[in-house]
Parts: sequence; structure tokens; C-alpha cells
Amino acid sequence: MKKDLLSIDDLSADEIYRVLDTAEAMREIGERPIKKVPTLRGKTVVNLFYEPSTRTRTSFEIAEKRLSADTLNIAVQASSVQKGETLADTAMNIEAMSPDMIVIRHSSSGACNLLSRICKSRIINAGDGLHEHPTQALLDAFTIKQHKPSIEGLKVAIVGDLLHSRVLRSNVLLLTKLGAHVFVSGPPTLVPRGIEQLGVTVATVDDAVRDADVVMMLRIQQERMQGAFFPSLREYYNLFGMTTERVSRAKPDVIIMHPGPMNRGVEIASEVADGPYSVILEQVANGVAVRMAVLYLLAGGVENEAAA
Ligand code: CP
Repeated sequence: MKKDLLSIDDLSADEIYRVLDTAEAMREIGERPIKKVPTLRGKTVVNLFYEPSTRTRTSFEIAEKRLSADTLNIAVQASSVQKGETLADTAMNIEAMSPDMIVIRHSSSGACNLLSRICKSRIINAGDGLHEHPTQALLDAFTIKQHKPSIEGLKVAIVGDLLHSRVLRSNVLLLTKLGAHVFVSGPPTLVPRGIEQLGVTVATVDDAVRDADVVMMLRIQQERMQGAFFPSLREYYNLFGMTTERVSRAKPDVIIMHPGPMNRGVEIASEVADGPYSVILEQVANGVAVRMAVLYLLAGGVENEAAA
């Protein structure tokens, strides 16, 4: 693997499968009475989150602790960022304390690339602006693999706020790389121009969901919207919300996914989110195993163990 994980484009199809296979082994550690192995003993991982997070931050910290790394969570709200320190200065000061890895979430799409250029530490993108969220796509693929024999050839419908979604971009890159057929749907104002160039089909919600193996719902990201992209949340729900009736058009063994946090009653009905086809909490659980795999492989994987 490359030094950093900034984008799904950093991984070949073989490397993606290597992460997913390693995550399978890591998942078993989470089922033991003592959920800890010494693999990253002596390594220091800094979690630097400039944007709110529940799932990603928590699962990275649990993953780091299960691998025995020394973890440090920088609370940006209580740091010198509040005194105006730049991202580059913050990064170089953290770097001066010799961490091995920095996990960063930031509202700016270029933040991870900046850290990658100026830091010797390995950089893991935990979500940067509208750009990418690679570990989310990896945990989504791991979850799909648990339910389907192969990702290749699946019909995957991704529905919602496509314009503001870094989860969309990482998933499209990963799923098309592994041979899935990706259909996307959302209000015209929330469909990025030229998205077809990524190898997806833009469709109505009904065409996207019809006979789908996987339906992935995306959150309406109101915090990133300036102005009205659609008339009302009620109308959005009527036109694009995943209801039981819409789910019935997909394959009988469809799985329903959502990266979270969910807007219940906006992009997804509660009876779908909590219903028999939903794997949403499995995605959260799998986030720990997949992030353990990423940390382990970036730290050197078996080469690291051989040198120990
Ligand atoms: N899926 C996801 O990134 O959730 P959080 O924002 O809670 O980390």
C-alpha cells in the first residue's frame, strides 16, 4: 500500500480485497472476551477531527485501542486552532512529536493532501470536504460482501444528496473498480455535473431501485447547503425518500444501507431504516474491523510483524 490513504484511487482492486480480507480477521478479534492484540504496540496515532463525527471518530479510536496503539484525540474546539493556528502549522507541530499516523477529518477537500505533503506520518482520510471518505467505502464494501457472493455484477442504487457527498465519490470509485453497476438518483439540483464520467448511470429513483441488489441512501446535508435545492423536506421525502413501497421494487434479498447520521422521514422512512432489509448498524459495527485493517496494513502489515 502507499504511505497514505487519501482516496480510493490510492488502492488497486487487489489492495481493496486485501483490506477486506484483513478486516475479516480483525472482526474475529472483536468477538473475543479480551478484544486486544499487541500489533500496533509502540505506535502513536493522532485523531484530528475538525468536523463533527460519531461513527468514524469512535470506530477509529476503538480500532486503535484494539490494536494496542497509543491514541491521542485532539479536540479542535479546545486547541490552538481557536487562536487562529493554521492547519499546516497544527500539523507540523503534531508531527514534531513523532506520531506514526494521523487520522484527519476536515471540511476542506484538500486538507488530507496538504498533510500528506508536509508530514512523514502516515495520513488517513476520515472524510475531507466534498472529496472522499475512503474508509466509509471500504466498510460499505465489507458489509456488502457479507451479504452477497460477489460485488462484481451487482446493481447498486445510490440515492440522495449526491452533490455534497464524499461517501458517494468514494463508493463510486470502489464499486466500479470491483465491477458493480452503479445507478445514482437525486434531485437535478443535487446531481453533480459530469458524474457519468465516473462510470455511473444517472436514473430516476424508480429505475435506480428496480431490481437493485443494494440500495444506499445518502443524507441530505443541509449544513453544506446555501439556498434551496428543493422546495421542502416533505416534497423531497415524497419524491426520493426510501419507503417500504419503493423497497418492494428492488430484488427480494436487497440490502438497505446508509452511512449515517440519518434524517429519518427525509431520505429514509423509519420502517425501512429499522426494517428487515436494513444493514445500517452492521455498517457501523464493521467500521471497527475495517479501520483496524487499514491501520494494520498502513503500519506495514505482515512486513511489520516479520521485522518485530
Ligand atoms: N458515516 C460517517 O462518517 O459518520 P460520522 O460523521 O458520524 O463519522
